Amino acid sequence: MKIKVVMENSVLNPINICGEHGLSILIEKNGRRFLFDTGQSHRIIDNIISMNIDLGSLDGIIISHGHYDHTGGLKAVVEASGGIDIYSHPKIFISRYGKKPFNRYIGMPFRREDLESIGARFIPVVEPLEITENLWISGEVPRITDFEGKDKNLYVLDGKKEKIDSFRDDFSLYAVLDEGVLVIAGCAHAGVINILEHAKEVTGVDNIYGIIGGTHIGLSNEENRIRTLEYIKKLDLKFLAPNHCTGLDVISQLKAIYGDRMHFASVGADFSF
Ligand SMILES: [Fe+2]
Ligand SMILES: [Fe+2]
Repeated sequence: MKIKVVMENSVLNPINICGEHGLSILIEKNGRRFLFDTGQSHRIIDNIISMNIDLGSLDGIIISHGHYDHTGGLKAVVEASGGIDIYSHPKIFISRYGKKPFNRYIGMPFRREDLESIGARFIPVVEPLEITENLWISGEVPRITDFEGKDKNLYVLDGKKEKIDSFRDDFSLYAVLDEGVLVIAGCAHAGVINILEHAKEVTGVDNIYGIIGGTHIGLSNEENRIRTLEYIKKLDLKFLAPNHCTGLDVISQLKAIYGDRMHFASVGADFSF
């Protein structure tokens, strides 16, 4: 299996690419290629061109959740692909808001009909789905901890009343490798512990090999951050490449704990398993 970071917050590689607050990861498995999220904007197309990624032969897009920083490049990618299957939870189009750094709309920036009119074919996913052998879309992640996934800064409107976003649509990917399960997270709003425990249950493999992608640890409250880091320490992971909403503080802490097993997954980084 191969993974390439197409869009992310940071750029470390000296090639003609750009970063932005957002995430997009290309995954190749069993000769099939999927794009997990599309970054924040059309700028993803510049990176796709610089990295010589052929969108015409892509087998599909998977959307981790409806936030703008994971879906903002969707229109440009659908257009450039000439029509494509998009696997996502039906709730990715709900209106959602964030309070930090200032109160604003942070949901999907496109209407479903507009995307369909340019070739998007939405495939609803709610339950776990094995999209190709040994690569699972998580589907809805059951909440087993009581301290994860309750970010007061992220909300939806119920009439005029603010309600904490429950993120039923938050998906991760679970890849079964020889050494265990690799979890590919978008923003991990469902909570890293909930997601990793769900990955074991869905795949039937008890050993987590590693994590790549957005973990939201750096943006979560103190209790959540401390308990998640304790949990991750105990796992004795073989591979870590958290990026995006993990935050540089947490990335530095994980580097100190995991040393060579911890990789920086900036734009253009690629990994083979
Ligand atoms: Fe998010
Ligand atoms: Fe995000």
